[in-house]
Amino acid sequence: MNDFILDARGVWKVFGKNPDKLPIDSASWDADRLREQGFVVGVEDASFAVERGEILVIMGLSGSGKSTLLRCLTGLYPVTRGTVHIDGTELSKATRDELVALRRQKVGMVFQSFALLPHLSALDNVAFPLQVTGIRRIERRKRAEAALSLVGLKGLEHRLPNQLSGGQQQRVGIARSLIADPAVWFLDEPFSALDPLIRREMQDEFLRLQSQLHKSIVFVTHDLEEAVRLGDRIVIMANGQILQIGTPEEVITNPATDYVKRFVSGMPKCRVVRIARVMTPNQTDRDPAATTLLDTDTLDDVLARIMESEGPIQVADSEGKIVGSLSRREVASWL
Ligand SMILES: Nc1ncnc2c1ncn2[C@@H]1O[C@H](COP(=O)(O)OP(=O)(O)O)[C@@H](O)[C@H]1O
Ligand SMILES: [Mg+2]
Repeated sequence: MNDFILDARGVWKVFGKNPDKLPIDSASWDADRLREQGFVVGVEDASFAVERGEILVIMGLSGSGKSTLLRCLTGLYPVTRGTVHIDGTELSKATRDELVALRRQKVGMVFQSFALLPHLSALDNVAFPLQVTGIRRIERRKRAEAALSLVGLKGLEHRLPNQLSGGQQQRVGIARSLIADPAVWFLDEPFSALDPLIRREMQDEFLRLQSQLHKSIVFVTHDLEEAVRLGDRIVIMANGQILQIGTPEEVITNPATDYVKRFVSGMPKCRVVRIARVMTPNQTDRDPAATTLLDTDTLDDVLARIMESEGPIQVADSEGKIVGSLSRREVASWL
């Protein structure tokens, strides 16, 4: 029993004339050679796994191969080479019917375009994926109502999509993608079409949902800010290739290539560096009257409190045990 709900090994997606005729067993494929031969290499040799309950963000500029990779992961595209397992099933070994069933039962999808059916109410849009499952109508409606309430749309169940704002429409899309209780939840730039303020609100909402649902998530974005806010880990792609996989803190404080370094250079380190890394460790008794910081908070989270404080502030772990202290001087070098 492993802890990976999704596992991609050596995944390639090549577009062009008859990529399926390429010699699959040849030891090394070379993306540049393939490009010289007129192929488009959408994804080059991608390997990673998604842990149960984590938010894995795939980030890269437009055209870097994010959506192509996502389609390979969900079985929407057959891979040209490599393997994808979802919850133990290898997609390329599944029959057509098995793949349809797996996608219906285990995969939830949200796209940038809300893709709602215009003539159906919010409620019927959300219930729609359940129609083919044999679940009875009354139960379908009950579950759709619960899902809409979960995303904050209680009372708007009977509106048509064009009677809802962009943010509300995307909430309907989110509710619909969750209705079958998928094992993996895929979101491809779900907030990119929304205004910045709404977008930020939706990110908060998404994190709130996740704290309740503990889904295994693959979230695609071209926005580093969004990736850093939402991701437990970030996969950075360019030109079809994975350049780095790491926590936001790792990617920003320890970029693997010059490209990643340039990409993340605008992001202040204090946004991702956690107190545990910067504090002076010590194990004193807790002063119940004094301010206490949490060792997993980022420097940005506690900046105001640090700047206001004359002396060092005690730092506790999640169990409340004092593990160190943090002073202005220690923080200053990261600003
Ligand atoms: N069906 C296709 N046929 C040929 N080329 C494609 C196809 N889909 C995507 N591509 C190419 O693959 C590359 C990656 O595209 P895409 O995955 O959509 O990028 P992103 O989602 O990161 O913007 C692009 O160069 C794109 O033109
Ligand atoms: Mg895309």
